[in-house]
Amino acid sequence: MSREKVVILDFGGQYTQLLARRIRELHVYSEILPHNTRAEQVRAQQPQALIFAGCAGSVDDEDAPGVDPAMYELGIPLLGICYGMQLMAKDLGGTVRGAGRRELRKTVLDVRKTDGLFAGLKREITVRLSHGDFVSTVPPGFAVSASAPNLPVAAMEDTGRQFYAVQFHPEVEYSPHGKAMLQNFLYKAAGLAVNWSVASFIEDTVRQIRETVTGEAQAVCGLSGGVDSSVAAVMVHKAIGDRLHCIFVDHGLLRKNEAKQVLSVFRDRLRMKVTAVDAAEHFLGKLAGVYDPEEKRKIIGAEFIRVFEREAAKIGKADYLVQGTVYPDVIESGTAAGAVIKSHHNVGGLPEDLNFKLVEPLRYLFKDEVRLVGEELGLPEEIVWRHPFPGPGLAVRVLGEVTREKLEIVRAADAILLEEIKAAGLYRDIWQAFAVLPDIRSVGVTRDRRTYAYTVALRAVTGQDAMTADWYRFPHDLLAKISARIVKEVPRVNRVVYDITTKPPATIEWE
Ligand code: XMP
Repeated sequence: MSREKVVILDFGGQYTQLLARRIRELHVYSEILPHNTRAEQVRAQQPQALIFAGCAGSVDDEDAPGVDPAMYELGIPLLGICYGMQLMAKDLGGTVRGAGRRELRKTVLDVRKTDGLFAGLKREITVRLSHGDFVSTVPPGFAVSASAPNLPVAAMEDTGRQFYAVQFHPEVEYSPHGKAMLQNFLYKAAGLAVNWSVASFIEDTVRQIRETVTGEAQAVCGLSGGVDSSVAAVMVHKAIGDRLHCIFVDHGLLRKNEAKQVLSVFRDRLRMKVTAVDAAEHFLGKLAGVYDPEEKRKIIGAEFIRVFEREAAKIGKADYLVQGTVYPDVIESGTAAGAVIKSHHNVGGLPEDLNFKLVEPLRYLFKDEVRLVGEELGLPEEIVWRHPFPGPGLAVRVLGEVTREKLEIVRAADAILLEEIKAAGLYRDIWQAFAVLPDIRSVGVTRDRRTYAYTVALRAVTGQDAMTADWYRFPHDLLAKISARIVKEVPRVNRVVYDITTKPPATIEWE
Protein backbone atom coordinates (compact mmCIF):
# COMPACT_ATOMS: atom_id res chain seq x y z
CA MET A 1 0.00 0.00 0.00
CA SER A 2 1.44 3.33 -0.88
CA ARG A 3 1.26 6.21 1.53
CA GLU A 4 -1.23 9.01 0.80
CA LYS A 5 0.70 12.06 -0.11
CA VAL A 6 1.02 15.39 -1.83
CA VAL A 7 3.76 16.01 -4.34
CA ILE A 8 5.21 19.50 -4.33
CA LEU A 9 7.04 20.60 -7.44
CA ASP A 10 10.01 22.78 -6.59
CA PHE A 11 10.92 25.75 -8.75
CA GLY A 12 13.77 26.81 -6.51
CA GLY A 13 11.74 29.15 -4.32
CA GLN A 14 12.79 29.94 -0.79
CA TYR A 15 9.54 28.77 0.82
CA THR A 16 9.29 25.29 -0.68
CA GLN A 17 10.59 23.43 2.33
CA LEU A 18 8.47 25.53 4.62
CA LEU A 19 5.45 24.54 2.57
CA ALA A 20 6.35 20.85 2.94
CA ARG A 21 6.60 21.34 6.63
CA ARG A 22 3.29 23.20 6.95
CA ILE A 23 1.61 20.32 5.16
CA ARG A 24 3.18 17.84 7.52
CA GLU A 25 1.94 19.92 10.42
CA LEU A 26 -1.51 19.27 8.97
CA HIS A 27 -0.62 15.57 9.23
CA VAL A 28 -0.42 14.92 5.53
CA TYR A 29 2.73 13.48 4.04
CA SER A 30 4.41 15.59 1.38
CA GLU A 31 7.33 15.02 -0.89
CA ILE A 32 9.24 17.60 -2.92
CA LEU A 33 10.32 16.81 -6.48
CA PRO A 34 12.15 19.05 -8.95
CA HIS A 35 9.88 20.94 -11.34
CA ASN A 36 11.30 19.07 -14.32
CA THR A 37 10.23 15.68 -13.00
CA ARG A 38 8.26 13.85 -15.67
CA ALA A 39 4.52 13.52 -15.12
CA GLU A 40 4.89 9.74 -15.41
CA GLN A 41 7.23 9.73 -12.43
CA VAL A 42 4.77 11.75 -10.42
CA ARG A 43 1.96 9.39 -11.41
CA ALA A 44 4.05 6.44 -10.30
CA GLN A 45 4.14 7.93 -6.82
CA GLN A 46 0.33 7.94 -6.75
CA PRO A 47 -0.08 11.26 -4.99
CA GLN A 48 -3.55 12.51 -4.12
CA ALA A 49 -2.65 16.10 -4.93
CA LEU A 50 -0.03 18.23 -6.58
CA ILE A 51 1.30 21.66 -5.67
CA PHE A 52 3.38 24.02 -7.77
CA ALA A 53 5.45 25.98 -5.30
CA GLY A 54 6.54 29.56 -5.80
CA CYS A 55 9.80 31.13 -6.84
CA ALA A 56 11.12 34.60 -7.44
CA GLY A 57 11.37 34.37 -11.23
CA SER A 58 9.03 35.36 -13.99
CA VAL A 59 7.30 32.93 -16.35
CA ASP A 60 8.51 35.14 -19.18
CA ASP A 61 12.19 34.76 -18.29
CA GLU A 62 14.19 33.00 -20.95
CA ASP A 63 15.14 30.12 -18.67
CA ALA A 64 11.91 30.14 -16.65
CA PRO A 65 11.40 26.74 -15.00
CA GLY A 66 8.40 24.89 -16.40
CA VAL A 67 6.62 21.58 -16.00
CA ASP A 68 5.84 18.59 -18.16
CA PRO A 69 2.51 19.54 -19.84
CA ALA A 70 1.20 16.07 -18.97
CA MET A 71 1.24 17.23 -15.33
CA TYR A 72 -2.12 18.87 -16.01
CA GLU A 73 -3.55 15.55 -17.15
CA LEU A 74 -2.86 13.60 -13.98
CA GLY A 75 -6.45 14.00 -12.86
CA ILE A 76 -5.58 15.08 -9.33
CA PRO A 77 -6.22 18.39 -7.57
CA LEU A 78 -3.58 21.02 -8.21
CA LEU A 79 -2.65 24.11 -6.24
CA GLY A 80 -0.42 26.76 -7.78
CA ILE A 81 1.28 29.21 -5.48
CA CYS A 82 2.56 32.56 -6.75
CA TYR A 83 4.94 31.59 -9.59
CA GLY A 84 3.04 28.27 -9.69
CA MET A 85 -0.16 30.21 -10.33
CA GLN A 86 1.37 32.22 -13.15
CA LEU A 87 2.77 29.09 -14.72
CA MET A 88 -0.64 27.43 -14.60
CA ALA A 89 -2.22 30.50 -16.19
CA LYS A 90 0.36 30.60 -18.95
CA ASP A 91 0.29 26.86 -19.66
CA LEU A 92 -3.48 26.58 -19.61
CA GLY A 93 -4.31 29.49 -21.88
CA GLY A 94 -4.57 32.55 -19.64
CA THR A 95 -2.34 35.61 -19.73
CA VAL A 96 0.31 36.85 -17.34
CA ARG A 97 1.57 40.42 -17.15
CA GLY A 98 4.52 41.99 -15.42
CA ALA A 99 3.77 44.58 -12.74
CA GLY A 100 7.20 46.08 -12.98
CA ARG A 101 7.81 46.02 -9.24
CA ARG A 102 8.31 43.24 -6.82
CA GLU A 103 7.56 44.56 -3.40
CA LEU A 104 5.57 42.76 -0.79
CA ARG A 105 2.41 44.58 0.17
CA LYS A 106 -0.17 43.93 2.81
CA THR A 107 -3.36 43.69 0.83
CA VAL A 108 -6.99 43.03 1.65
CA LEU A 109 -8.45 40.42 -0.66
CA ASP A 110 -11.97 40.55 -1.87
CA VAL A 111 -13.03 36.90 -1.76
CA ARG A 112 -15.56 36.07 -4.44
CA LYS A 113 -15.92 32.31 -4.03
CA THR A 114 -16.30 30.84 -0.60
CA ASP A 115 -16.81 27.20 -1.46
CA GLY A 116 -13.31 26.20 -2.56
CA LEU A 117 -10.00 27.27 -1.14
CA PHE A 118 -11.58 30.07 0.88
CA ALA A 119 -14.36 27.95 2.43
CA GLY A 120 -15.07 29.01 5.99
CA LEU A 121 -13.17 32.29 5.62
CA LYS A 122 -14.46 35.84 5.69
CA ARG A 123 -15.07 37.72 2.46
CA GLU A 124 -12.23 40.07 3.26
CA ILE A 125 -8.92 38.64 4.31
CA THR A 126 -5.47 40.17 4.60
CA VAL A 127 -2.52 38.64 2.80
CA ARG A 128 0.80 39.89 1.52
CA LEU A 129 1.07 39.82 -2.20
CA SER A 130 4.61 39.31 -3.21
CA HIS A 131 5.20 39.15 -6.91
CA GLY A 132 5.93 41.33 -9.88
CA ASP A 133 3.90 39.30 -12.33
CA PHE A 134 0.18 38.70 -12.14
CA VAL A 135 -2.51 36.84 -14.01
CA SER A 136 -4.48 39.28 -16.12
CA THR A 137 -6.89 36.82 -17.73
CA VAL A 138 -7.74 33.44 -16.28
CA PRO A 139 -7.48 30.36 -18.50
CA PRO A 140 -10.65 28.77 -19.91
CA GLY A 141 -12.59 26.89 -17.25
CA PHE A 142 -11.27 29.08 -14.41
CA ALA A 143 -13.14 31.65 -12.35
CA VAL A 144 -11.68 34.45 -10.28
CA SER A 145 -12.01 33.42 -6.63
CA ALA A 146 -10.42 36.51 -5.10
CA SER A 147 -9.24 39.86 -6.29
CA ALA A 148 -7.56 42.87 -4.74
CA PRO A 149 -7.27 46.58 -5.51
CA ASN A 150 -5.24 46.87 -8.72
CA LEU A 151 -5.15 43.10 -9.01
CA PRO A 152 -8.04 41.54 -10.87
CA VAL A 153 -6.96 37.95 -10.20
CA ALA A 154 -5.50 37.33 -6.75
CA ALA A 155 -6.79 33.76 -6.78
CA MET A 156 -8.51 31.58 -9.35
CA GLU A 157 -10.03 28.15 -9.47
CA ASP A 158 -11.41 25.59 -11.85
CA THR A 159 -13.64 23.53 -9.62
CA GLY A 160 -14.33 20.98 -12.37
CA ARG A 161 -10.69 19.94 -12.55
CA GLN A 162 -10.00 20.92 -8.91
CA PHE A 163 -7.31 23.36 -9.98
CA TYR A 164 -6.66 26.21 -7.55
CA ALA A 165 -4.16 29.02 -7.62
CA VAL A 166 -3.19 31.91 -5.39
CA GLN A 167 -0.97 34.91 -5.95
CA PHE A 168 0.34 34.86 -2.37
CA HIS A 169 2.08 32.33 -0.13
CA PRO A 170 -0.33 30.56 2.22
CA GLU A 171 2.57 28.74 3.92
CA VAL A 172 4.33 31.78 5.36
CA GLU A 173 3.79 33.13 8.83
CA TYR A 174 2.26 36.38 7.71
CA SER A 175 -0.61 34.63 5.93
CA PRO A 176 -2.86 34.08 8.94
CA HIS A 177 -5.53 32.31 6.89
CA GLY A 178 -3.04 30.27 4.92
CA LYS A 179 -3.47 27.24 7.12
CA ALA A 180 -7.23 27.19 6.52
CA MET A 181 -6.63 27.43 2.78
CA LEU A 182 -4.16 24.56 2.81
CA GLN A 183 -6.60 22.54 4.89
CA ASN A 184 -9.35 23.23 2.38
CA PHE A 185 -7.11 22.11 -0.44
CA LEU A 186 -5.77 19.00 1.26
CA TYR A 187 -8.77 17.71 3.16
CA LYS A 188 -11.68 18.93 1.05
CA ALA A 189 -10.43 19.19 -2.53
CA ALA A 190 -7.97 16.31 -2.44
CA GLY A 191 -9.83 14.28 0.19
CA LEU A 192 -6.61 13.54 2.01
CA ALA A 193 -6.92 12.01 5.42
CA VAL A 194 -5.07 13.17 8.47
CA ASN A 195 -2.65 10.29 8.57
CA TRP A 196 0.86 11.57 8.86
CA SER A 197 2.14 11.02 12.30
CA VAL A 198 5.49 10.05 13.66
CA ALA A 199 4.23 6.51 14.25
CA SER A 200 2.86 6.15 10.74
CA PHE A 201 6.03 7.66 9.30
CA ILE A 202 8.11 5.04 11.08
CA GLU A 203 5.79 2.22 10.05
CA ASP A 204 5.74 3.28 6.38
CA THR A 205 9.44 3.99 6.19
CA VAL A 206 10.39 0.70 7.82
CA ARG A 207 8.17 -1.08 5.31
CA GLN A 208 9.78 0.76 2.42
CA ILE A 209 13.27 -0.09 3.63
CA ARG A 210 12.27 -3.75 3.92
CA GLU A 211 10.95 -3.64 0.36
CA THR A 212 14.19 -2.04 -0.85
CA VAL A 213 16.88 -3.91 1.04
CA THR A 214 15.51 -7.35 0.32
CA GLY A 215 16.65 -10.95 0.63
CA GLU A 216 20.18 -11.31 1.85
CA ALA A 217 21.21 -7.75 0.94
CA GLN A 218 23.40 -6.09 3.55
CA ALA A 219 23.66 -2.47 4.59
CA VAL A 220 26.38 -0.52 6.35
CA CYS A 221 26.05 2.64 8.36
CA GLY A 222 28.65 5.02 9.71
CA LEU A 223 27.43 5.63 13.21
CA SER A 224 28.65 8.77 14.91
CA GLY A 225 26.34 8.98 17.88
CA GLY A 226 24.79 12.12 16.43
CA VAL A 227 21.03 12.21 16.34
CA ASP A 228 20.62 11.89 12.58
CA SER A 229 22.81 8.87 11.93
CA SER A 230 21.52 7.24 15.13
CA VAL A 231 17.86 7.59 14.23
CA ALA A 232 18.53 6.47 10.65
CA ALA A 233 20.41 3.40 11.88
CA VAL A 234 17.73 2.40 14.37
CA MET A 235 15.05 2.73 11.74
CA VAL A 236 16.98 0.55 9.29
CA HIS A 237 17.73 -1.94 12.05
CA LYS A 238 14.02 -2.18 12.76
CA ALA A 239 13.51 -3.03 9.09
CA ILE A 240 16.33 -5.48 8.36
CA GLY A 241 17.77 -6.45 11.75
CA ASP A 242 21.28 -7.83 11.71
CA ARG A 243 21.69 -7.31 7.99
CA LEU A 244 22.62 -3.79 9.08
CA HIS A 245 26.23 -3.37 10.16
CA CYS A 246 27.15 -0.16 11.89
CA ILE A 247 30.70 1.10 11.90
CA PHE A 248 31.75 3.46 14.63
CA VAL A 249 35.10 5.10 13.96
CA ASP A 250 36.67 6.56 17.06
CA HIS A 251 39.16 9.04 15.62
CA GLY A 252 40.27 10.05 19.08
CA LEU A 253 38.69 13.47 18.63
CA LEU A 254 35.48 12.70 20.47
CA ARG A 255 34.19 14.19 23.68
CA LYS A 256 34.68 12.64 27.09
CA ASN A 257 33.09 9.17 27.38
CA GLU A 258 31.43 9.59 24.00
CA ALA A 259 32.66 6.35 22.45
CA LYS A 260 31.72 4.35 25.53
CA GLN A 261 28.29 5.87 25.69
CA VAL A 262 27.49 5.35 22.01
CA LEU A 263 28.56 1.70 22.16
CA SER A 264 26.61 1.07 25.32
CA VAL A 265 23.43 2.46 23.73
CA PHE A 266 23.71 0.72 20.38
CA ARG A 267 25.35 -2.54 21.29
CA ASP A 268 24.14 -3.24 24.78
CA ARG A 269 20.78 -1.58 24.86
CA LEU A 270 19.56 -1.78 21.28
CA ARG A 271 21.44 -4.99 20.47
CA MET A 272 22.66 -3.71 17.14
CA LYS A 273 25.72 -5.00 15.30
CA VAL A 274 28.38 -2.34 15.74
CA THR A 275 32.02 -2.60 14.75
CA ALA A 276 34.02 -0.12 16.77
CA VAL A 277 37.33 0.98 15.34
CA ASP A 278 39.78 2.62 17.69
CA ALA A 279 41.78 4.69 15.25
CA ALA A 280 42.86 7.40 17.71
CA GLU A 281 46.60 6.75 17.41
CA HIS A 282 46.36 6.65 13.65
CA PHE A 283 44.55 10.00 13.40
CA LEU A 284 46.81 11.67 15.95
CA GLY A 285 49.82 10.53 13.99
CA LYS A 286 48.40 11.98 10.79
CA LEU A 287 47.63 15.28 12.51
CA ALA A 288 51.07 15.71 14.08
CA GLY A 289 52.67 18.97 13.01
CA VAL A 290 49.55 20.17 11.16
CA TYR A 291 48.40 23.68 12.09
CA ASP A 292 46.17 24.77 9.26
CA PRO A 293 42.43 24.22 9.98
CA GLU A 294 41.52 23.27 6.43
CA GLU A 295 44.45 20.91 6.22
CA LYS A 296 43.29 19.24 9.44
CA ARG A 297 39.78 18.86 8.05
CA LYS A 298 41.08 17.36 4.82
CA ILE A 299 43.28 14.85 6.60
CA ILE A 300 40.52 13.76 8.94
CA GLY A 301 37.98 13.52 6.12
CA ALA A 302 40.25 11.43 3.93
CA GLU A 303 41.36 9.14 6.76
CA PHE A 304 37.81 8.68 7.91
CA ILE A 305 36.78 7.43 4.50
CA ARG A 306 39.80 5.14 4.31
CA VAL A 307 39.07 3.57 7.70
CA PHE A 308 35.37 3.25 6.94
CA GLU A 309 35.99 1.59 3.58
CA ARG A 310 38.45 -0.85 5.10
CA GLU A 311 35.99 -1.86 7.80
CA ALA A 312 33.09 -2.05 5.37
CA ALA A 313 35.11 -4.36 3.14
CA LYS A 314 35.66 -6.72 6.09
CA ILE A 315 31.91 -7.09 6.47
CA GLY A 316 31.65 -8.56 2.99
CA LYS A 317 29.39 -7.48 0.21
CA ALA A 318 27.22 -4.60 1.32
CA ASP A 319 25.06 -2.99 -1.33
CA TYR A 320 23.52 -0.27 0.75
CA LEU A 321 24.84 2.62 2.76
CA VAL A 322 22.59 4.15 5.38
CA GLN A 323 22.95 7.90 5.76
CA GLY A 324 21.31 10.26 8.19
CA THR A 325 20.72 12.92 5.54
CA VAL A 326 18.03 15.31 6.76
CA TYR A 327 16.00 17.80 4.84
CA PRO A 328 18.20 20.86 5.47
CA ASP A 329 21.16 18.88 4.02
CA VAL A 330 19.12 18.26 0.90
CA ILE A 331 18.23 21.94 0.67
CA GLU A 332 21.77 23.07 1.39
CA SER A 333 23.25 20.94 -1.33
CA GLY A 334 20.82 22.61 -3.72
CA THR A 335 17.87 21.17 -5.58
CA ALA A 336 17.44 20.83 -9.31
CA ALA A 337 16.08 24.34 -9.49
CA GLY A 338 17.44 25.98 -6.39
CA ALA A 339 20.70 27.75 -5.98
CA VAL A 340 23.27 26.16 -3.72
CA ILE A 341 22.63 28.01 -0.49
CA LYS A 342 25.67 26.71 1.34
CA SER A 343 28.36 24.39 0.14
CA HIS A 344 28.25 22.03 3.04
CA HIS A 345 31.44 21.13 4.77
CA ASN A 346 30.36 17.71 5.83
CA VAL A 347 33.78 16.45 6.81
CA GLY A 348 33.43 13.15 8.53
CA GLY A 349 30.72 12.27 6.07
CA LEU A 350 31.15 9.95 3.14
CA PRO A 351 31.49 10.85 -0.53
CA GLU A 352 28.81 9.86 -2.98
CA ASP A 353 31.00 7.70 -5.19
CA LEU A 354 31.52 4.93 -2.65
CA ASN A 355 29.67 2.48 -4.81
CA PHE A 356 26.77 1.93 -2.47
CA LYS A 357 23.13 2.51 -3.03
CA LEU A 358 21.96 5.06 -0.49
CA VAL A 359 19.27 4.50 2.12
CA GLU A 360 18.24 7.86 3.55
CA PRO A 361 15.17 7.37 5.70
CA LEU A 362 15.21 10.90 7.12
CA ARG A 363 15.66 12.74 3.85
CA TYR A 364 12.45 14.72 4.16
CA LEU A 365 12.53 15.47 7.87
CA PHE A 366 13.57 18.55 9.75
CA LYS A 367 15.78 18.20 12.80
CA ASP A 368 12.97 18.52 15.30
CA GLU A 369 10.99 15.88 13.44
CA VAL A 370 14.02 13.57 13.51
CA ARG A 371 14.07 14.03 17.26
CA LEU A 372 10.40 13.10 17.52
CA VAL A 373 11.06 9.98 15.46
CA GLY A 374 14.02 9.16 17.70
CA GLU A 375 11.89 9.48 20.80
CA GLU A 376 9.16 7.32 19.29
CA LEU A 377 11.79 4.69 18.44
CA GLY A 378 12.83 4.66 22.08
CA LEU A 379 16.27 6.16 21.67
CA PRO A 380 17.59 7.57 24.93
CA GLU A 381 17.44 11.27 25.61
CA GLU A 382 21.21 11.68 25.51
CA ILE A 383 21.20 10.65 21.85
CA VAL A 384 17.95 12.28 20.75
CA TRP A 385 18.75 15.67 22.24
CA ARG A 386 22.50 15.63 21.68
CA HIS A 387 23.94 18.91 20.42
CA PRO A 388 25.38 18.77 16.90
CA PHE A 389 29.02 17.79 16.83
CA PRO A 390 31.30 18.39 13.84
CA GLY A 391 32.73 15.44 11.94
CA PRO A 392 36.36 16.49 12.61
CA GLY A 393 35.44 16.67 16.28
CA LEU A 394 37.72 18.29 18.80
CA ALA A 395 40.37 18.85 16.12
CA VAL A 396 38.54 22.03 15.12
CA ARG A 397 38.27 23.06 18.77
CA VAL A 398 41.95 22.66 19.54
CA LEU A 399 43.41 25.57 17.64
CA GLY A 400 46.69 24.91 15.91
CA GLU A 401 48.40 21.56 16.29
CA VAL A 402 46.33 18.79 17.84
CA THR A 403 48.19 17.02 20.60
CA ARG A 404 47.15 14.48 23.18
CA GLU A 405 47.70 16.99 25.97
CA LYS A 406 45.52 19.66 24.36
CA LEU A 407 42.79 17.15 23.61
CA GLU A 408 42.74 16.11 27.24
CA ILE A 409 42.37 19.71 28.37
CA VAL A 410 39.57 20.59 25.99
CA ARG A 411 37.78 17.33 26.73
CA ALA A 412 37.86 17.90 30.48
CA ALA A 413 36.71 21.52 30.21
CA ASP A 414 33.98 20.56 27.76
CA ALA A 415 32.69 17.87 30.10
CA ILE A 416 32.42 20.36 32.96
CA LEU A 417 30.60 22.88 30.77
CA LEU A 418 28.07 20.32 29.57
CA GLU A 419 27.59 18.84 33.02
CA GLU A 420 26.75 22.25 34.48
CA ILE A 421 24.47 23.19 31.59
CA LYS A 422 22.56 19.94 32.04
CA ALA A 423 22.40 20.35 35.81
CA ALA A 424 20.93 23.82 35.31
CA GLY A 425 18.31 22.37 32.95
CA LEU A 426 19.49 24.52 30.04
CA TYR A 427 20.82 21.90 27.64
CA ARG A 428 17.81 21.90 25.34
CA ASP A 429 17.66 25.70 25.18
CA ILE A 430 21.09 25.79 23.58
CA TRP A 431 21.84 24.75 20.02
CA GLN A 432 25.44 23.87 20.72
CA ALA A 433 27.78 24.41 23.66
CA PHE A 434 31.41 23.47 23.86
CA ALA A 435 34.88 24.36 25.04
CA VAL A 436 37.66 25.55 22.75
CA LEU A 437 41.37 25.57 23.39
CA PRO A 438 42.93 28.59 21.70
CA ASP A 439 46.63 28.24 21.23
CA ILE A 440 47.44 30.82 23.87
CA ARG A 441 48.86 30.81 27.34
CA SER A 442 48.75 33.60 29.83
CA VAL A 443 50.05 34.48 33.25
CA GLY A 444 48.06 33.64 36.34
CA VAL A 445 48.47 33.07 40.02
CA THR A 446 47.56 29.96 41.94
CA ARG A 447 48.21 29.64 45.67
CA ASP A 448 50.63 32.58 45.55
CA ARG A 449 52.58 31.07 42.71
CA ARG A 450 52.89 32.45 39.24
CA THR A 451 51.47 30.21 36.54
CA TYR A 452 51.79 30.33 32.79
CA ALA A 453 49.00 28.17 31.46
CA TYR A 454 46.27 27.70 28.85
CA THR A 455 43.15 29.75 28.33
CA VAL A 456 39.91 27.88 27.72
CA ALA A 457 37.19 29.59 25.69
CA LEU A 458 33.57 28.63 26.11
CA ARG A 459 31.07 28.86 23.28
CA ALA A 460 27.31 28.40 23.55
CA VAL A 461 24.92 29.45 20.82
CA THR A 462 21.25 29.48 20.04
CA GLY A 463 19.69 29.32 16.61
CA GLN A 464 17.52 27.22 14.37
CA ASP A 465 19.81 25.89 11.74
CA ALA A 466 23.47 26.78 12.36
CA MET A 467 23.39 29.19 9.41
CA THR A 468 23.08 32.04 11.87
CA ALA A 469 23.55 31.96 15.61
CA ASP A 470 23.49 34.17 18.64
CA TRP A 471 25.55 33.66 21.76
CA TYR A 472 23.65 32.26 24.68
CA ARG A 473 22.93 34.57 27.63
CA PHE A 474 24.03 32.41 30.52
CA PRO A 475 23.09 33.48 34.03
CA HIS A 476 26.29 35.03 35.39
CA ASP A 477 26.34 32.79 38.44
CA LEU A 478 26.39 29.76 36.24
CA LEU A 479 29.27 31.15 34.17
CA ALA A 480 31.10 31.86 37.41
CA LYS A 481 30.58 28.31 38.60
CA ILE A 482 31.73 26.78 35.32
CA SER A 483 34.80 28.99 35.20
CA ALA A 484 35.73 28.22 38.81
CA ARG A 485 35.37 24.51 38.23
CA ILE A 486 37.45 24.52 35.06
CA VAL A 487 40.42 26.37 36.53
CA LYS A 488 40.25 24.21 39.63
CA GLU A 489 39.72 20.81 38.01
CA VAL A 490 41.49 21.00 34.68
CA PRO A 491 45.26 20.97 34.96
CA ARG A 492 47.26 23.49 32.93
CA VAL A 493 44.36 25.96 32.64
CA ASN A 494 44.39 29.26 34.51
CA ARG A 495 41.89 31.38 32.56
CA VAL A 496 38.40 30.99 31.12
CA VAL A 497 36.76 33.35 28.63
CA TYR A 498 33.30 33.35 27.09
CA ASP A 499 32.81 33.95 23.36
CA ILE A 500 30.14 36.63 22.83
CA THR A 501 30.17 36.78 19.04
CA THR A 502 27.24 36.13 16.77
CA LYS A 503 27.35 34.19 13.53
CA PRO A 504 27.93 35.99 11.23
CA PRO A 505 30.54 37.42 11.35
CA ALA A 506 32.04 34.62 13.48
CA THR A 507 31.30 30.98 12.80
CA ILE A 508 30.08 28.61 15.50
CA GLU A 509 33.27 26.58 15.57
CA TRP A 510 36.51 28.45 16.00
CA GLU A 511 38.21 26.71 13.12
P1 XMP B 1 30.21 26.84 11.59
O1 XMP B 1 31.43 26.69 12.45
O2 XMP B 1 30.51 26.82 10.13
O3 XMP B 1 29.36 25.54 11.88
O4 XMP B 1 29.37 28.00 12.01
C1 XMP B 1 28.02 25.33 11.52
C2 XMP B 1 27.64 23.95 12.01
O5 XMP B 1 28.38 22.95 11.31
C3 XMP B 1 29.20 22.21 12.20
N1 XMP B 1 30.49 22.02 11.55
C4 XMP B 1 30.85 20.90 10.93
N2 XMP B 1 30.21 19.73 10.78
N3 XMP B 1 32.04 18.87 9.61
C5 XMP B 1 30.81 18.72 10.13
O6 XMP B 1 30.26 17.63 10.01
C6 XMP B 1 32.76 20.02 9.71
O7 XMP B 1 33.87 20.13 9.23
C7 XMP B 1 32.11 21.08 10.41
N4 XMP B 1 32.50 22.35 10.72
C8 XMP B 1 31.47 22.91 11.40
C9 XMP B 1 29.29 23.05 13.45
O8 XMP B 1 29.54 22.25 14.60
C10 XMP B 1 27.94 23.72 13.48
O9 XMP B 1 26.94 22.86 14.00
